[in-house]
Amino acid sequence: MAKLLYVRASPRGEESKSAQLAEAYLGSLRKANPDLEVDTLSVWDADLPVFDGNKVAAKINVMTGERHNAVQRTAWGQIIEIAGRFIAADRYLFAVPMWNSGIPYRLKHYIDVIHQPGMLWGLNPETGYFGLLENKHATLVLTSGAYAAEFPSPAFGVDLHSTYMRAWLNQAGVAAIDEIRFQPTLLTQDPAGDFERAKQTAIDLALAHNRV
Ligand SMILES: Cc1cc2nc3c(=O)[nH]c(=O)nc-3n(C[C@H](O)[C@H](O)[C@H](O)COP(=O)(O)O)c2cc1C
Repeated sequence: MAKLLYVRASPRGEESKSAQLAEAYLGSLRKANPDLEVDTLSVWDADLPVFDGNKVAAKINVMTGERHNAVQRTAWGQIIEIAGRFIAADRYLFAVPMWNSGIPYRLKHYIDVIHQPGMLWGLNPETGYFGLLENKHATLVLTSGAYAAEFPSPAFGVDLHSTYMRAWLNQAGVAAIDEIRFQPTLLTQDPAGDFERAKQTAIDLALAHNRV
């Protein structure tokens, strides 16, 4: 049975446009896949451990092949548990608003916790990083108030949002990535119409994903 991890990065609850679109996609995907197992993670509600000096030391020791002391072992155990939930999924669905050109800091915090050597990536001194995730797929729902690909940049903002998400996922080994964009959400003559069009795109993408 396929397992999908749905990661919500907006703190706006039911008001969140990225979440509303992600849930339209999910509703359509579930209709054709009643057995789909969905795990929902709101990064604003999740108990994410501070990535402090002990976690950094534990990470460096993994990279250099050193043993963990007792404190680092506990720190690394927490990381293994949180990253394990991520690794267990076959598919990912991310609902991500643009915040100050990038991603909300709670999502970055989550990524800093789970993006670990030996779990999501390895590093070859000659060829560089390689991803450890295999056969995964990610769908990104991307919203922004002013930024849009068709508006002049940097006047209306810069997209360090989708580019960051893609670069991170690629480094972890996730190459199959689709996008649903509702941009801009604010600087538009017809926000309701644009939202409905984005919603239809989300439903159509889920139908296409159901065919594979
Ligand atoms: C803290 C914060 C920073 C934001 N920064 C940007 C930005 O850099 N560029 C932009 O176009 N919109 C920005 N926005 C607007 C949001 O991306 C936009 O309102 C989006 O639709 C919110 O998605 P949501 O409804 O899922 O929360 C920002 C909003 C917040 C709250």
